[in-house]
Amino acid sequence: MEIIIKKDAQEGSCAAARVVARLVRAKPDAVLGLATGSTPLTLYKELIRMHNEEGLDFSEVVTFNLDEYIGLSADHEQSYRRFMNENLFSQINIKLENTHVPDGMAEDVPAACAAYEQAIADAGGIDLQVLGIGSDGHVGFNEPTSSFASRTRIKTLTRQTVADNARFFGGDESKVPHHCITMGIGTIMDARMNIMLAFGANKADAVAATVEGPVASIMPASILQHHPSAKLFIDEAAATDLKLADYYRWVYEGKPEWQADA
Ligand code: PGA
Repeated sequence: MEIIIKKDAQEGSCAAARVVARLVRAKPDAVLGLATGSTPLTLYKELIRMHNEEGLDFSEVVTFNLDEYIGLSADHEQSYRRFMNENLFSQINIKLENTHVPDGMAEDVPAACAAYEQAIADAGGIDLQVLGIGSDGHVGFNEPTSSFASRTRIKTLTRQTVADNARFFGGDESKVPHHCITMGIGTIMDARMNIMLAFGANKADAVAATVEGPVASIMPASILQHHPSAKLFIDEAAATDLKLADYYRWVYEGKPEWQADA
């Protein structure tokens, strides 16, 4: 795992956006895995800026989102489909039919999950997956003790995630759905590259456990230690508990020119 510590969320997000943009320029029909939540918003703003000002072309790009709440329709103001349409898709030249978000209203959830996995496979697999991390260490909505072999399926949110996400539902925990469809950890590990973003002091514990703790399903993101191409973009606040923070800075600052890709 490569740890990239930037001054703040803006700089970290811009560095992550450069990695995404490089892939899209090299492979115009790249398959991107996308995430929701507050963390990737700055990344998406930067991609929109690159589209507007630098002609970054998404016309052939295909996307798959990590997760969706069960019971929220695509037009619900807290559905992740709506989040993606508003915060990214409507502001770049992507074809909406090339974008995929799990269907939170599916009548047959297991069948919808299997179809989602098949659609990812049919698209050739995910080239680059964007990830946030929950304060409890979840990736996608793979909560602690999720199987590392899991595929897209139904999950129940932890009480901590329900509390964390209540801010999007007017602070009312009772409005937060308890069930979701999420790509599995196995699905995420199949992506050819993973980039995780984590900003702010409330992510410091989970970041330290992910990077420097044991690989264990109690901290789902720790599986990225086994991924052949994972980059973690964090700010100073999220880096506070890292024992080897100075080493990660030293590595990043001293990267040879030919290796400096973020
Ligand atoms: P956040 O969520 O970006 O809103 O903090 C991250 C996550 O739950 O993965």
